[in-house]
Amino acid sequence: MKVLVIGGGGREHALCAAIRRSPRVSEVVCAPGNGGIAQGARCVPVSQKDLGDLLRVVAEERPDLTVVGPELPLSLGLADEMQRRGLRVFGPTREAAMLETSKAYAKRFMQRHMIPTANYAVCCSKEEALGALELFHAPVVIKADGLAAGKGVLICESKDEAQHAIAGLFSGQLLGTAETSVIIEEHLTGEEVSFLVLSDGKHAVPLVPAQDHKRIGEGDRGPNTGGMGAYTTDSMLDAKMSEWILSHIAQKAVDGMAAEETPFAGVLYCGLMMTAKGPMVLEFNARFGDPETQAILPRLESDLVEALEACVEGRLSETEFRWKPGASACVVAASEGYPGAYTVGHPITGLERAAEVPGVEVYHAGTSADGGQFLTAGGRVLGVTATGSTLRDALASAYDAMGRISFAGMAYRRDIGWKALGS
Ligand code: AMP
Ligand code: GLY
Repeated sequence: MKVLVIGGGGREHALCAAIRRSPRVSEVVCAPGNGGIAQGARCVPVSQKDLGDLLRVVAEERPDLTVVGPELPLSLGLADEMQRRGLRVFGPTREAAMLETSKAYAKRFMQRHMIPTANYAVCCSKEEALGALELFHAPVVIKADGLAAGKGVLICESKDEAQHAIAGLFSGQLLGTAETSVIIEEHLTGEEVSFLVLSDGKHAVPLVPAQDHKRIGEGDRGPNTGGMGAYTTDSMLDAKMSEWILSHIAQKAVDGMAAEETPFAGVLYCGLMMTAKGPMVLEFNARFGDPETQAILPRLESDLVEALEACVEGRLSETEFRWKPGASACVVAASEGYPGAYTVGHPITGLERAAEVPGVEVYHAGTSADGGQFLTAGGRVLGVTATGSTLRDALASAYDAMGRISFAGMAYRRDIGWKALGS
């Protein structure tokens, strides 16, 4: 069969690699893909912001299955349009994707279904928000309602800071466009866990849990990024806790969406804070996480395509997932300056030597290819990933491989997974 993957980052490189491992797959096409993805899949250009252009690629390629990586095409209704045309697509409808695209919708949904999350207020004007802020204690979290590429969440240490954040979001000063709805949220503390489940609209089956590292700097300092690394270990959550999260959060959300006639089929990413009062949802995403997917999929031993097809066909309950025991780690190499301004077009060396380290896969997030030479083409450039029987082994392999790679201005965190090793 022929599979089309939409997207062009490290997550899509990991998806393409796992899809290619399926004996049922004869061809993988990626739109738009990137320099590294093009090594194993045919890449075709597309504007991910343009529903018409995405549908054009689908019509031209006529894939047996389309897998949507990023949230933007989902928010445009790509899955809805494809379903209407009788085409098989892995990814939720526009309405179901609102669990990610509107934080106000997600918070109200969780409240209706008693899914644990931080206390909150949704406010539709600056005045209303400043009034509601009186009811919260600092630190407090201020969030834009819609998609904001990770820039819409402000952790405010004082009420004064929160007032500025509210004013900045409503005026448009902070994100460039004026928000019409802002969420004020209780500040939670604990370890964060990314708990991803596949769903066919009825059943939820968990993937191995992962932890992301969102801040640019070591010790979780500095501004938020798209993710500087991720790891998985068998010891991150014990069986009892996984079971609790599955039944009280993930399956409950899938049941709730079905009951409200907006069934959720695809990947439901539950971003959790493990608080003293138990796991609470920070956010839902309607897609695979990036860079979590790069760490999760190398541990999947069973056929990913079979699982994705089971989701599309509503028969996930029959599907079994097998995982390689142990751990994995993905360390991101970024361009100097990221998440701020950076330059591109720098030659990358050492990729072949890096791939010689046992258990290592180098996923390309932002690269282009000029003949046989890879060049940097984004803020996040590579995700150097390794599996191992322990997290220590996986990290040692990933960092060994990383040490063999170089490009001008290459920056990476040296402490991915460090908290787990220390405990
Ligand atoms: P979100 O996009 O909602 O996941 O927020 C991005 C990041 O902000 C999360 O991964 C957390 O690190 C942090 N965050 C969001 N909400 C809260 C909260 N209520 N309390 C503490 N940290 C939060
Ligand atoms: N790693 C965070 C995300 O994919 O949203």
